Amino acid sequence: MTTPEPADRVLSRASLAEGSPTRWFDELYTAAARGEAEVPWTRGAPNADLADWVEPGEGRRALVVGSALGDDSELLASQGWAVTGFDVAPTAVEAARARFPESAVEYVVADLLKPPGEWHQAFDLVVEIMNVQAMPRTFRSAALTSLAGFLAPEGTMLVSEVAEEHFDMATWVSPPWPFSRAEIESVAQDGVKLLSLETIRDGARYWAEFTR
Ligand SMILES: C[S@@+](CC[C@H](N)C(=O)[O-])C[C@H]1O[C@@H](n2cnc3c(N)ncnc32)[C@H](O)[C@@H]1O
Repeated sequence: MTTPEPADRVLSRASLAEGSPTRWFDELYTAAARGEAEVPWTRGAPNADLADWVEPGEGRRALVVGSALGDDSELLASQGWAVTGFDVAPTAVEAARARFPESAVEYVVADLLKPPGEWHQAFDLVVEIMNVQAMPRTFRSAALTSLAGFLAPEGTMLVSEVAEEHFDMATWVSPPWPFSRAEIESVAQDGVKLLSLETIRDGARYWAEFTR
């Protein structure tokens, strides 16, 4: 007997074949809400590396890209950040609001590839953890340009993605599409500067910090 293919693989393949890099995310969250699928990246807890990094926000504005079910956004809000979390999947945004009904976080449906103009250089902290890598490489340049555009002067941007150098790309099955070091460094554009770039999790992921 063969093991059934996970829903994220089946849905992403169809969505990508029809030219949509993002449609499958909402389809997956919707199937999960019905108990018919698992969302592989949901942990029910904040990202451990972000939890190690977090510093008091003192009312400064933070933007969480690909906010999913809200755990990273809530972590930052609990540390005094004024948080906007956005996701392209409306079902994820609804689920985050339902999980945290008293939350101070503003959860918004938005697309990194077409972000609201008022977010330009509006955030003191931008958190990008494993979302850009979830779209095919053809969308990478546009996604990184959007990302750099969010960061306010003197702000901090955190970027964490799977490190291509750690894996055998000959046998890798996407999504996700891992990053090279040069691609992480290319977030430094339009006045954004790289502060540090390290590998974490035994070399499997990059953790980079930027400022403007
Ligand atoms: C692999 S998950 C990572 C979620 C979370 N950042 C984490 O670290 O667990 C990617 C998330 O980004 C969202 N996403 C994908 N493409 C997006 C886009 N273009 N704009 C906004 N959100 C997007 C998906 O709906 C999903 O919630």
